Amino acid sequence: MIEAQKLSKLYGSFRALDKVSFQVRRGEVVGFLGPNGAGKSTTMRILTCFISASDGAAKVHGVDVFDDPLQVRRKLGYLPQRAPLYGEMTVWDYLRFAAEMRGLDDSAFRSRMKTVVEVCGLAKVLGKDIRTLSHGYRQRVGLGQALVHDPPVLILDEPTSDLDPNEKAEVIRYIKEIGKNRTVLLSTHNLSEVEAACARAIIVSKGRVVADGPLDDIRARSGKVRYVVTVHEKKVYEGGEGYRDSARKPPTAEEVQEALRGLPGVLTVRELPTDDSAHSFELAGPLGTDVRADIFQLIVQKGWLLLEMRRETQTLEDVFKALTRGDERADRGRALLNDEDDDHASPAAAAAAAASEEEDDEPEDEDESEEEDEDESEEEDKAAAEEDDESDEDEEEDASDEDDASDEDEEEDASDEDKGKKKD
Ligand SMILES: Nc1ncnc2c1ncn2[C@@H]1O[C@H](COP(=O)(O)OP(=O)(O)OP(=O)(O)O)[C@@H](O)[C@H]1O
Ligand SMILES: [Mg+2]
Repeated sequence: MIEAQKLSKLYGSFRALDKVSFQVRRGEVVGFLGPNGAGKSTTMRILTCFISASDGAAKVHGVDVFDDPLQVRRKLGYLPQRAPLYGEMTVWDYLRFAAEMRGLDDSAFRSRMKTVVEVCGLAKVLGKDIRTLSHGYRQRVGLGQALVHDPPVLILDEPTSDLDPNEKAEVIRYIKEIGKNRTVLLSTHNLSEVEAACARAIIVSKGRVVADGPLDDIRARSGKVRYVVTVHEKKVYEGGEGYRDSARKPPTAEEVQEALRGLPGVLTVRELPTDDSAHSFELAGPLGTDVRADIFQLIVQKGWLLLEMRRETQTLEDVFKALTRGDERADRGRALLNDEDDDHASPAAAAAAAASEEEDDEPEDEDESEEEDEDESEEEDKAAAEEDDESDEDEEEDASDEDDASDEDEEEDASDEDKGKKKD
């Protein structure tokens, strides 16, 4: 239903996407993850025909986004990251307008609105002008516009970012529900939402796909499992005939750590912060082993009081952090986390260091000199400043003229748009 084939996007000399490929099948809800600036929105804007790619191909519902964008748009519901709305329209009028554009007649619109109002929580604001709505309610309206024609393919760019926890849960519940017979590509920074709604995730970093697969496979990528073991710091086990030993003392943190470290199959032991009534440790072991029985035996043998023991495979968050570490380092201006010069590393040097950590198949043109990096970070700063301006404009725009409410993003990418329109 969605197919991206080696999509690349250049903004000037900056490569925002680098050969991004993936497929999403019918009935899949796929989480599209990545740090800020990784290229999620850019990919989504290409898939929804808002901008064209510099290279590569994409299909939605079997139709090429470059050859027949109108047909693609008919099959799509798209919620952009900053949904452009007409501020002086009421919510009801705006959604009717969106439905009319999608070819729904009045009765189809009214019957569809029952679901949209319920899912998006719009009942209280249907008669209000959009410009008077809070951020979260505007996002609900944007989501309503994406759902109103009940499209077979949904592309949602951070649909829950401004929503309150109740509404977030409702939207995620609905996305999961509609995902049973439709196709949803959902970007979010909330990994628990991905775990709630998606069976599969695609993680992008610096314009490349770094992971794509079922969540369990992604979580297992590190090849490690984690245990948390907590024992009482002040008391020992006192129950059971023949077990009482008045000479037995509660353990020190060092004793527990040392004993846990000695267990076969335990790779690392790290103390966790606790209050002063418990010692808590995090252990790591190889995937496919289970040392819980050994931990239990050890604690019984020592007569310690076990407060907690649990085994977890790595969380999605752990894997996300590990896979996107290059972005993180560059963002913080740190070339290497343990480097002595960390604090003094320039953003350009950090970016260069992060780039140099990448795999060998790095394309030649990405092998930038420090000078080029500086240019790039300037460009990125400019882009960020433009984006700030843009969101300011969004707000003014809502309060002013309808005509100005055309998508700022489209203007920004006027040249790309032209390319798309020629084929329209
Ligand atoms: N119109 C533009 N001109 C220049 N650079 C751009 C433009 N749009 C995006 N970029 C750059 O492309 C990169 C990818 O941006 P994109 O918006 O796709 O990231 P994202 O993954 O959606 O991030 P976020 O999580 O912050 O929404 C960023 O470095 C961004 O600054
Ligand atoms: Mg984005």
